Amino acid sequence: MARVLSGVQSTGVLHLGNYLGAFRNWVSYQEHDDAYFFIADLHAMTAEYEASSLARSTFDVALDLLAAGLDPSRCTIFVQSHVPEHSRLAWLVECTVSYGELTRMTQFKDKGAENEGVRAGLFTYPALMAADILLYDADRVPVGDDQRQHLELTRDAANRFNHRYGEVFVVPEAAVPLFAARVMDLQVPTRKMSKSVSSPLGTVQMLDPPEEIERKVRKAVTDTGTEVRYDPATKPGVSNLLELLAAATGGDPGALADGFGDYGSLKKAVAEALVEMLAPVRGRAEELRRDPGHITRVLEEGAEKARAVAGPTLDRAMRAAGLLAPPGGFAG
Ligand code: TRP
Repeated sequence: MARVLSGVQSTGVLHLGNYLGAFRNWVSYQEHDDAYFFIADLHAMTAEYEASSLARSTFDVALDLLAAGLDPSRCTIFVQSHVPEHSRLAWLVECTVSYGELTRMTQFKDKGAENEGVRAGLFTYPALMAADILLYDADRVPVGDDQRQHLELTRDAANRFNHRYGEVFVVPEAAVPLFAARVMDLQVPTRKMSKSVSSPLGTVQMLDPPEEIERKVRKAVTDTGTEVRYDPATKPGVSNLLELLAAATGGDPGALADGFGDYGSLKKAVAEALVEMLAPVRGRAEELRRDPGHITRVLEEGAEKARAVAGPTLDRAMRAAGLLAPPGGFAG
């Protein structure tokens, strides 16, 4: 069995893009692989955030993950800050990667390089992410395109550490997603559906009630003309709707286009398919809301299982890097 690991930041409620692009894949990994999924609350602190709502967001993301279908008896689900090994290994990674490498990360360049006041944690973010991955000897890491560069850095860090200090880390690979849906904003179909850009009408939340889904799809921006055709360059709105339909029903967006004579009937079909796909997710979310203690227990057990793997890896790394054994000795 391959070890698979991925994380999601605890910012904002999860939307259709997260579900189709990430969580649906996560759910299928748990069937075949030894899968670890965590909520990256430490990463959420790298940008401005509300201290009074961070814990709530973390909890809500846990609920969303379980609602999406992650099953704690088949995978390990935990919160990053509950496993102190993450921040401890991050230091060793920071002392492995270079200032120049971190400076070249496009996410940092886009979000903060120009700004003196940007948090240092945003700069070292990829080192923490590398630690997240390396602690678990992960073979494969499903990430979106925006995180590919961070994964490359993780591989470089692992190889460099192994070369300097001896074989400690498994060098991870990016996982090719089983479903690769690219979901665009319904109001601005040239932009990815995002939880950081506010677009209430353009973003379908994973737990939106059916009426909301129908309303948002009905109001989705379409393109000039009336013909339903899959052509993302000239028909971004209609093509996004076809992508969504394909993602929800399993068809091919180009072939699906032939079945529709006008935009209205396409929208109706998309809304129906999304409502149907998300119905079980909403159902599970309702049950989970009635039993928050269950979520707390899942996260407790998850942290325990995670530490059982992360602890020995951290010790192995500390020993290899030459640190003095702590009282009681190294475990790994
Ligand atoms: N940086 C990732 C994101 O924003 C979240 C993340 C943190 C992650 N640590 C990770 C993903 C480790 C995969 C593996 O999407």
